[in-house]
Amino acid sequence: MRAIRDYATGKPPMRIVVIGGTGLVGRQVVALLAARGHEAIAASRATGVDIVTGVGLHEVLRGAQVVIDASNSEAPYGESSYAFFSAGARHLLAAEAQAGVRHHVSISVVGTDRLRSSPYFRGKAAAEDMIRASGVPYTILHATQFYEFLLAIIEASGVAAQALRLSPAYIQPVASRDVAEALAQIACGRPLNATVELAGPERERLSVIVKRFLEDIESPYEVVVDAAEPYFGAVLEESSLVPCAAAQTCTVGFATWLHESEYARAHW
Ligand SMILES: NC(=O)c1ccc[n+]([C@@H]2O[C@H](COP(=O)([O-])OP(=O)(O)OC[C@H]3O[C@@H](n4cnc5c(N)ncnc54)[C@H](OP(=O)(O)O)[C@@H]3O)[C@@H](O)[C@H]2O)c1
Repeated sequence: MRAIRDYATGKPPMRIVVIGGTGLVGRQVVALLAARGHEAIAASRATGVDIVTGVGLHEVLRGAQVVIDASNSEAPYGESSYAFFSAGARHLLAAEAQAGVRHHVSISVVGTDRLRSSPYFRGKAAAEDMIRASGVPYTILHATQFYEFLLAIIEASGVAAQALRLSPAYIQPVASRDVAEALAQIACGRPLNATVELAGPERERLSVIVKRFLEDIESPYEVVVDAAEPYFGAVLEESSLVPCAAAQTCTVGFATWLHESEYARAHW
């Protein structure tokens, strides 16, 4: 049953569609919004909505006041990720304009503008440009890497003879649940028509935090530091992935996250 008020703000509940609402961050956002009393709809290909083709968008957006785009490319390393983000944003924003959506909320990555040699980040930047030009009121959240994402970074890094090649650039990762909280909060507020940044509490070199992660989970892999090793197709400067001074910082640190995570009990 729908609530009469948002339990946190006291305002009437809204229909909020979460594109990518079955994914890591999206499904946490759906749960948080539902707990506040909103009609939170998870939309993805699994529920018959595809932003790349536009299928199902008009139906799911009917009556929606807010849309959160937490979708992600399933092939993040090649040119197809550029096509995913640009086609997805084009279809989604057009459908939102037609449905009279009042707030488009999007999750992107800190440093997106500095990484345009990567097709993935070029795609994210193109989507952000489309959001700003769309006329739909918006808020873009730039988050740093999720702790959960360290595993994907490990999988994507160059591996030879039990050694991972990793850039020594700084990162300041964040728990995905903190990102979901921030997205839910933003969706329930006024559009800022701006980009805001969110990061975790600790800044460390990518190579160092991954080495610590591998040691903590007793993985047999070694880390080889290589400043020329690309990250999603882009070679990183020291501060490419680091948030600005005004970024909001969260409290869950790496050790706390790891202790609570499934990886603390992993056997390699
Ligand atoms: N991971 C990080 O460290 C990090 C850091 C900062 C920002 N972000 C951003 O956060 C966002 C979400 O990341 P995540 O890790 O939560 O993603 P994820 O777990 O990979 O989930 C991706 C979601 O997108 C949906 N999706 C994929 N293709 C779709 C399509 N064509 N149409 C509609 N939905 C589609 C998937 O569902 P179906 O398969 O059912 O379609 C799924 O629900 C991304 O935009 C990412 O850039 C991530």
